[in-house]
Amino acid sequence: KTVTYDFNVSWVTANPDGLMERKVVGINGQWPLPVIEVDKGDRLVVNMYNGLGDKNASIHFHGMYQNGTNNMDGPSMATQCPIPPGYNFTYDFTVDQNGTYWYHCHTEFCYPDGYRQALIVHDSDAFFNDDYEEELTWTISDWYHDFVEDIQFLSLYNPTGAEPVPNSFLLNDTQHSSIPVKPDTTYLIRIINIGAFVAQYFYIEDHTFKIVEIDGVYVEPKEADLLYISVAQRYSILLTTKNSTDKNYAIVTVADSDLLDVIEPELQLNNTNWLQYDADAPHEDAVMTVEASADLVPFDDFTLVPHDQMELLPEPDFEINVTVTMNNLYNGFGYAFFNDISYTAPKVPTLYTVLSAGDLATNSEVYGEFTHPIVLQHNDVVQVVLNNGDSGSHPFHLHGHNFQVIERAPPFNEHRNDYADGDPLTFDPANHTAFPAIPARRDTFVVPPQGYFVIRFVADNPGVWLFHCHIDWHLAQGLAMSFIEAPLQIQETTHIPQQHYDVCRAGGVPFEGNAAA
Ligand code: C2O
Repeated sequence: KTVTYDFNVSWVTANPDGLMERKVVGINGQWPLPVIEVDKGDRLVVNMYNGLGDKNASIHFHGMYQNGTNNMDGPSMATQCPIPPGYNFTYDFTVDQNGTYWYHCHTEFCYPDGYRQALIVHDSDAFFNDDYEEELTWTISDWYHDFVEDIQFLSLYNPTGAEPVPNSFLLNDTQHSSIPVKPDTTYLIRIINIGAFVAQYFYIEDHTFKIVEIDGVYVEPKEADLLYISVAQRYSILLTTKNSTDKNYAIVTVADSDLLDVIEPELQLNNTNWLQYDADAPHEDAVMTVEASADLVPFDDFTLVPHDQMELLPEPDFEINVTVTMNNLYNGFGYAFFNDISYTAPKVPTLYTVLSAGDLATNSEVYGEFTHPIVLQHNDVVQVVLNNGDSGSHPFHLHGHNFQVIERAPPFNEHRNDYADGDPLTFDPANHTAFPAIPARRDTFVVPPQGYFVIRFVADNPGVWLFHCHIDWHLAQGLAMSFIEAPLQIQETTHIPQQHYDVCRAGGVPFEGNAAA
């Protein structure tokens, strides 16, 4: 079936943390934004009208493969032009995957103003469907009181690239709310970090649960009581409630304070909400204190086993080796680099260059060095070795794919060790034990401070796909690169509606006419 959403995007006001009313990006006059829900196999159509008046926008459907529909992926200047105020853009694609996703604006700095929400793909065949009675979706997020523009990141006001510190943390776009539950009932709870920057610990006092999905990949159920959820990551858990209703229990998120340069005393790193068994019973504050959060030991996602038992991919045909460095001064401002390149958006969307370049599309030079283009051969096994020269952790996301996570060091629960004083660990192929036989797969994975990870995927999805740090500040600093996957196949499979080109011309992008595929 076809599921259609009409999104009239405009400014509305909201006060999600009760501390500050501000303008946020609304859809059809509402905020929080509508959750997109489809069934696996549906065609999803989102007609977006940019009614913001003063700001460009776009929508990325995070985690969607967009196989054959690369031009519907959403990142400005990678696969489309930014949509100027007063213009429509229709996203139209088939959803051949399942699980928990989200959508967010993907044009310079537009999602921290509230333009992000859950996207759920229901699956009548999920292996855990008989194991739960009720379903809930919980988003967690950091929140800023200022407009993104007013924060003036990488301006003379903040030239160094120090990440702006959020003012508060939200669950379902609010704070301290009570979520009613029935006793003795199993819930499927989808948890999504839709924030712009800060990873969060998550737990429910005196409850354990089973992880059954990460980033759209079903996993063998694993018991856990504490998750670490970076921005853009998703977890589905099965939670069975207690059989007595005499008490309510705190649902706690704790911001990863290691990511924050400065913590003003008024910033509440913990956000307590309640699993409410009985509205009349007390709603007590969480027991955990912020100091103790340094001892939190979260579940290690590297150990999860995909339910489909997909084995380790064969030795790579192609390897990409990158080192991350942050806040290197360049023209007086602190940029981020993969090797020696800080991503800068091209003048024409990279996808349109693929379509107009003919046979030259296989030559990475046509894309311009500052998009950090890497041309991938169709169906190659690709390995990315990412060494983190920075003393902060980073959640890396690859568009159009999930990937096997085959090595990460130091081990996740040693994140808190202070590597900043020592030399970074770097991946040494000669000196590692075996990769897991059935590695975890996901689309967003955290590299530890001064550590590394190794990931593998098959280049079986022709398209222009960004690979980037999902901290929006770091993306703005250039911590991104472009994978141009199977460009000649992109030319065969991608057809761009005239409306998409019209949006370019309206925005003054120097792009001429129809680059026929
Ligand atoms: Cu949610 Cu470029 O990604």
